[in-house]
Amino acid sequence: MRLAVLCSGGDAPGMNACVRAVVRSADAHDCEVVGIRFGYQGLLDEDFFVSVDGDSLMTPRSVAHIMQYGGTILRSRRCEGFRTDEGLQKAADNLHKHNIEGLIVIGGDGTLRGAVDLSRHWDGKIIGCPATIDNDLAGTDFTIGFPTAVTTAVEAIDKLRDTAESHERMFLVEVMGRHSGYLALYTAVASGAEFACIPETPTDVPSIIKRIHELKAQGKSSIIIVVAEGDEQGGAEVLNDKFRAAHCPFSTRTLTLGHVQRGGVPTPADRILASELGDHAVRALVAGAHSVMSGKLNGKLVLIPLIDAYSTHKPIPSDLEELLTRMTR
Ligand code: F6P
Repeated sequence: MRLAVLCSGGDAPGMNACVRAVVRSADAHDCEVVGIRFGYQGLLDEDFFVSVDGDSLMTPRSVAHIMQYGGTILRSRRCEGFRTDEGLQKAADNLHKHNIEGLIVIGGDGTLRGAVDLSRHWDGKIIGCPATIDNDLAGTDFTIGFPTAVTTAVEAIDKLRDTAESHERMFLVEVMGRHSGYLALYTAVASGAEFACIPETPTDVPSIIKRIHELKAQGKSSIIIVVAEGDEQGGAEVLNDKFRAAHCPFSTRTLTLGHVQRGGVPTPADRILASELGDHAVRALVAGAHSVMSGKLNGKLVLIPLIDAYSTHKPIPSDLEELLTRMTR
């Protein structure tokens, strides 16, 4: 069988490990793999991976020593052309033209949505591997890239805490996550931040300020607030203005971590998850599965319909939020 693999949407650390797993597992199952560059855009443009030896198929050698790098050797892109019926039909035609019978897509909600749209135009099998720093997909405890993004944000906050303490300041640190508070909440708990402002629960500025006054009176000399970019009150800059207007007792500064959270060396947890999910996707495809996502839920590899992965908001763990509140003293 001839398969194709692509990475689409925002890159996530661990995508390379997933590509490697797909290629090597496919080899173990006597399947050929075409690498598609630049996600769905590359499928429309027939932009295929060519190895340094000029080989147009991906081989176990062409994915050697890539697991330790962030980003993706296949490149990634967000693709407007894939939102039209013409674009989807062209993609299907290109897959037929190159005798591709199965497609593994690695990416976040937009990528899985694109896969579902494509499945209405193409009769091949599509399997998704969840890769996004947002951890906003159902059917998997964690998405590929999330553990590394948390690590990156925590390392930055550890450094900030030094300055926060030296100057007795408050920092508002904005993290990514789009509409999800997962990244902010995990970062806050792991970095010992005092508060997390996330879209899933109302951000009550007066009550946070009241608590900050109490903490200061108890001897607290610095405050870190992790703000999810999707918080309903706004990002770190907007919230900073609100905190200042509400008479925050600390001098404040903001930091938006931005795209640094998407890069860097994937943690071992990400490399292992990516390897498991990529291999699982190939095994599922060879066994006849289609239009499903390869996930790991409660420690077990699972397959869930692609549509179920993104159609509902993945709830954040409320026990972690409660833990954060108890730790803030
Ligand atoms: O989905 C991953 C993500 O990094 C989000 O957290 C963020 O909102 C968005 O992508 C940023 O997208 P772009 O890289 O297109 O600016």
